[in-house]
Order: sequence, then C-alpha cells, then structure tokens
Amino acid sequence: MAVLLTGGTGYIGSHTAVELINAGYGVVIADDLSNSEESVVDRIRMITGTAPVFYRADVKDRSKLEKIFAENDIEAVIHFAGFKAVGESVSEPLMYYRNNLDSALSVLETMKERGCTRFIFSSSATVYGMHNQVPFREDMPRSSTNPYGSTKLMIEMIMEDLCTADPSFCCVALRYFNPVGAHPSGLIGEKPSGVPNNLTPYIQQVASGIREKLYVFGDDYDTPDGTGVRDYIHVTDLAAGHLAAMKYSSDSRGFTAVNLGTGRGYSVLEMVRAFEKVNGVKIPYEISPRRPGDIASCYADVTKARELFGWEAGKGLEDMLRDAWNWERNRTASE
Ligand code: UFG
Repeated sequence: MAVLLTGGTGYIGSHTAVELINAGYGVVIADDLSNSEESVVDRIRMITGTAPVFYRADVKDRSKLEKIFAENDIEAVIHFAGFKAVGESVSEPLMYYRNNLDSALSVLETMKERGCTRFIFSSSATVYGMHNQVPFREDMPRSSTNPYGSTKLMIEMIMEDLCTADPSFCCVALRYFNPVGAHPSGLIGEKPSGVPNNLTPYIQQVASGIREKLYVFGDDYDTPDGTGVRDYIHVTDLAAGHLAAMKYSSDSRGFTAVNLGTGRGYSVLEMVRAFEKVNGVKIPYEISPRRPGDIASCYADVTKARELFGWEAGKGLEDMLRDAWNWERNRTASE
C-alpha cells in the first residue's frame, strides 16, 4: 500500500514525504517538476533511508495517473500539485483555473474509478477572505480575493459535492497558514524562482546578500506595531499535520476542513527582529506601501486540529528561522 503525493517534490510535499516514510508509509510521488527538481527525490532518500517511487508526470494527464494507479496500490492521495503565486494568478487567471481545477478533477476522477476514496488537499487560509475576524475558525464563511484563492475555494466545494454524492469518500481540506523553515538537515526546503513573494524567503535572501533590503508592505495596519500579522508554522509541523490527516482518513467519511497553524500571530517587524536575533545577521528594511489584497491579521483557531487529529504544532519561531537560514546557506553554498 502507498500514498500518492501529487506535487511531492515541492516544498510542503517533500517534507510530508519524509514524515510519511518515517512513519512507515510507502510513498509514490507524481510531479511535473514545473516548480521543483528531481534531485529532491534523492534528498528524501538521504534523510529517511528510503527512496520514494517517483513519476515525472503532470497529473492533468489522466493516462499518466492511470499508469501510476495500475502500477501501485494507492490507498490515499495527498494533492499538493498546483500553482500558488497570488500575484501571478491575478495576471494569468485562465492558466490558474485550468491548471489547478483540471489537476484536482483529474485526480478525483481517477480515484473514483479506481475505488480509492481518501483525498487530502492543500487548501489555504486564503479561503477566509477579507471579512472574518481572527482567529479564523473552520465554520466561518469562505470567500476569495484572487484567482488562486478561488481555485482553493472551488476545489473545497468540489470535494464537498463529491462526498455528498458518494458517501464512501473521505475528503480533508487542510487550510495552511504560513509555512516557513526547512528540514533541520538542510537538505530540503523552499526554493523560490525569481524574486520571492513570501516574507521569510525574502528575508533569507537579504541575509545572504542576494537582495539589498526588505520592503515592509505597510506599517499602518490595525495591529500592535502596524505591520501585518501572520500565523507562521514550521514546515515539519505542517508535514506532521498531513500524517495526522492520513490517520484520521483511515476510518472517517465525508468532507471536513481543518486549519494547520500554530494559533499565534507575529508581525513582519517581529519576524525581522527574531531572524536577526536567532541568526546573528542584520536585515535592513524600508517601510513601503501596502501590498494590494493583504489583510491586517491572519491566524488560526487550532481547536479542531487538536480535537479531530490529536495534532498541534510544536516548534516555535526560533526553530523556524534557524532552519530557514540553515537551508538558505546550504542551498546557496551548493549552487
Ligand atoms: N511581506 C512584506 N514584505 C515582503 C513579503 C511579505 O512586508 O517582501 C509581508 C506581507 O505584507 C504580510 C506578511 O509579510 O503581512 C506575510 O506575507 P507572505 O507573502 O509571506 O504571506 P501571505 O500571508 O500574504 O500569503 C500566504 C501564502 C498565500 C496564501 C495566504 C493565505 O503565500 O499563498 O498566505 O493566508 F494565500
């Protein structure tokens, strides 16, 4: 028996592969390498001692999925594959809808045909939209503010409709807050292409001298220091949340959505200061205008994950920022 990870060589997928292998699961990865590298497969082997089965495959291609299901005994799918840059989704909406919706539909259709009924999906806190009050709870109304967020919301709706129509399915939407850090080995981590969109990868590149300074997007939000507040979670904690969801899905049915966060928010300036303190480097920054679409505060109510999965994040900001910098130095040294 094995778990299929679509997008399994990506940032969150690769850390989840490590967690699953360490817990004794067989892992099959399907990834088209559009935003990752095949060398990650070997790095997963170096960390765990076991190489996952790897297919270079675009999961929109049903024939490739059929082959993977025919050649492996797939008990569940964790669907990471998808485009994820919010800004790009605004300028290329058709590309985002086509890619993200087609891949989810193709995976679910193949699963239904094959009688594989456990589906875990990389959703996002972005589905809480602009109008809810923090902390975000899973039963709050959903909305989206950009095409990327709309694809997450639509796929959650597809999962709900499928579970209503076919009660044998168990579909779990994991709503990620802000994953940061990397595996403590420094062998896998996030590898942004071009200018990083996200805060910690940007800080890492300032620390390593690739970028001159950080632009802090707004200091006039309704938060303690005026800068945006987010719920940063260590990527290995996030990966462990997938393991907990796998266990949950083995004897549950129907649709459920679960927040994966720490329940604690930090501001941009708190992140900068913590990075400087933990890693002993200076991060020059400049206050710049707000980024369109950003909200003031985003953090999770983590009660449901604790009650349903028996899971909670264990690592703190120091671990996240130390491991992020360790990865950045390893990565730039090997390039
Ligand atoms: N920020 C800066 N400068 C930067 C980058 C970010 O000041 O160069 C600030 C942002 O304004 C925000 C905070 O740092 O206040 C975090 O920004 P990120 O881009 O790292 O993360 P977001 O919370 O904006 O977005 C993340 C994911 C999205 C997802 C969203 C859901 O990247 O995919 O969480 O809540 F949709």
